[in-house]
Amino acid sequence: MIKHGKNIYKAVKHAVFMASPKKEVKLTDLPGIGPTIASKLESAGYCDVMSIAVMAPSELSSIADISEAAARKAIAAARKVLQLGFEDAASYAEKRKEILRITTGSKNLDALIGGGVETKAITEAFGAYGSGKTQIAHCLAVNVQLPIERGGANGKAVYIDTEGTFRPERIKQIAAGVGLDPEKALKNIFVARAFNSEHQMLLVDKVRDLLNKGEPIKLLIVDSLTAHFRAEFTGRGQLADRQQRINRHMHNLMRLAETYNIAVYVTNQVMARPDVLFGDPTQAIGGNIVGHASTYRIYLRKGKKDSRVAKLIDSPNLPDAETVFFITRHGLSDKQV
Ligand code: GTP
Ligand code: MG
Repeated sequence: MIKHGKNIYKAVKHAVFMASPKKEVKLTDLPGIGPTIASKLESAGYCDVMSIAVMAPSELSSIADISEAAARKAIAAARKVLQLGFEDAASYAEKRKEILRITTGSKNLDALIGGGVETKAITEAFGAYGSGKTQIAHCLAVNVQLPIERGGANGKAVYIDTEGTFRPERIKQIAAGVGLDPEKALKNIFVARAFNSEHQMLLVDKVRDLLNKGEPIKLLIVDSLTAHFRAEFTGRGQLADRQQRINRHMHNLMRLAETYNIAVYVTNQVMARPDVLFGDPTQAIGGNIVGHASTYRIYLRKGKKDSRVAKLIDSPNLPDAETVFFITRHGLSDKQV
């Protein structure tokens, strides 16, 4: 029952995202918001019009240092340009047609998530050390470059690396495995090392710049989504602040995915839960904040004979199911080779 409710919540939230127009509107397009106020808002983490549309007038007034009346006007304008509200199911279905699915390389894993990692959506992989989160990221960064009929999106990838685990050599191996020129495959991946959570959030805006310049980016990877936040916000009193920032970050990622029809793949660690006696005593970092904002959540663990087990969790339109795949020299596979 609870689960059902949560799925509906996700589906509705997705529908609201889908209702937004394609054109990117800047903060300075809103009445009363000039470059100075916009940069104040941006440094507080409010980077897009959506983040303003959902603010309370008092909140905007205190952050931007403007009157409440001016704040109310800006919020109303933001809501208007985003056309927040409902749209009919036919136009919703029309927009869904643009969606592409990028293969992971494993047919089993693709099938689990409805045919591959979806554009206009966030796919989150969480699991323990060595469970395969980063390996999947490397495979996707290569496979997105394949033509659409081969499970790609004919596009480039952006890899935001927070842990220094991006490996060009591994990209070359995987590229060779799918018949792509390894050097060309590397050139089609923009890699940025994020040194802290602020930097990580800023990099998402840089991706927007690349897209606006016409780079055909179809995949954005954030590996790991939560590590910096977890390391920086350690105190008990900082938890709310941490969750709020992660929330904003997820929100920016979703807006980007939706506006530019790109797939977002994020990785997330787990923490031990000493209170769970039966079943798997682990829980994803960021909890509900990350879970609600992700369209697809995959829980990964090591299985028998070097296999990996992937379990789909809380999907709005697919059954919760499990499957097995292997990490091989040339990427993911259904068979151990
Ligand atoms: P953390 O980031 O530490 O939380 O783990 P992760 O989930 O990102 O793990 P990752 O994807 O880095 O998985 C590492 C595992 O992938 C290794 O333990 C190997 O089993 C496997 N692996 C990595 N590279 C290769 C390779 O070149 N060939 C094969 N066959 N397996 C590999
Ligand atoms: Mg990793």
